[in-house]
Amino acid sequence: MYQDLESKVVIITGSGSGIGKAYAEAFGKAKAKVVLNYRSSKHEQELKEMIKEIENNGGKAIAVQGDVAVEEDVINLVNQAVEQFGTLDIMINNAGFEKPIPSHEMSVDEFKKVIDINLTGAFIGSREAVKYFLKEDKKGVILNTSSVHDTIPWPYYVNYAASKGGLKKMMETMSMEYAQYGIRINNISPGAIVTEHTKEKFSDPETREETLAMIPAKEIGNTDQVANVALFLASDVSSYVHGTTIYVDGGMTNYPAFMGGKG
Ligand code: BGC
Repeated sequence: MYQDLESKVVIITGSGSGIGKAYAEAFGKAKAKVVLNYRSSKHEQELKEMIKEIENNGGKAIAVQGDVAVEEDVINLVNQAVEQFGTLDIMINNAGFEKPIPSHEMSVDEFKKVIDINLTGAFIGSREAVKYFLKEDKKGVILNTSSVHDTIPWPYYVNYAASKGGLKKMMETMSMEYAQYGIRINNISPGAIVTEHTKEKFSDPETREETLAMIPAKEIGNTDQVANVALFLASDVSSYVHGTTIYVDGGMTNYPAFMGGKG
């Protein structure tokens, strides 16, 4: 469907699991050249299998270890893409982290850890991609995996909500700076999606019911539904889409508490 993605070089941070893994599979099926980034060596075996799968589908893939919160690691990631695949077309800042802690008990280190991964990591990735696109005069694409919590406050996750709120303004600001060069920068904001990280909470009947009550579509989403939006935003099909956020959330951001017509 998105034929222009064939042979495009795409970096996906945090592609060892969850939504990042689904992006990798989707871009692999589109026959792109995929640079899989992961931090923990526990994902190594899985990544080997993903590389094989992408190659079987007619794509190409390499895996590069690195922590998005470490500037040199992100610079290395972009260099590896260019050295091994000849260029960079699409940068997907996807790596993220979340853990609930009441705000008054959260240490500065715990606050910063999430900001460093979710926000500063995406900044470094965006900056390095923009630098490359400008140098090569390339109309590249940058996508960030954000969250419905770039707009919905999230008690016990103050660091996460702050990082995603920041990510929204960062994306909009950078898009405003670089749209004139044909560089498209957009966010994807998933809601409740089943992944390795969330499947435990969503299999608890009470949490599941409470979550479904916040979703007009009355279903928990899956990672393919998010990856399909990434393909759309990365492809020339969306060539006039700049500086925006697509919510993939079954309507969660749409004030579902008002569903009964009260208020
Ligand atoms: C989080 C999920 C959560 C969802 C809706 C996402 O950003 O990663 O854990 O279920 O927001 O609250």
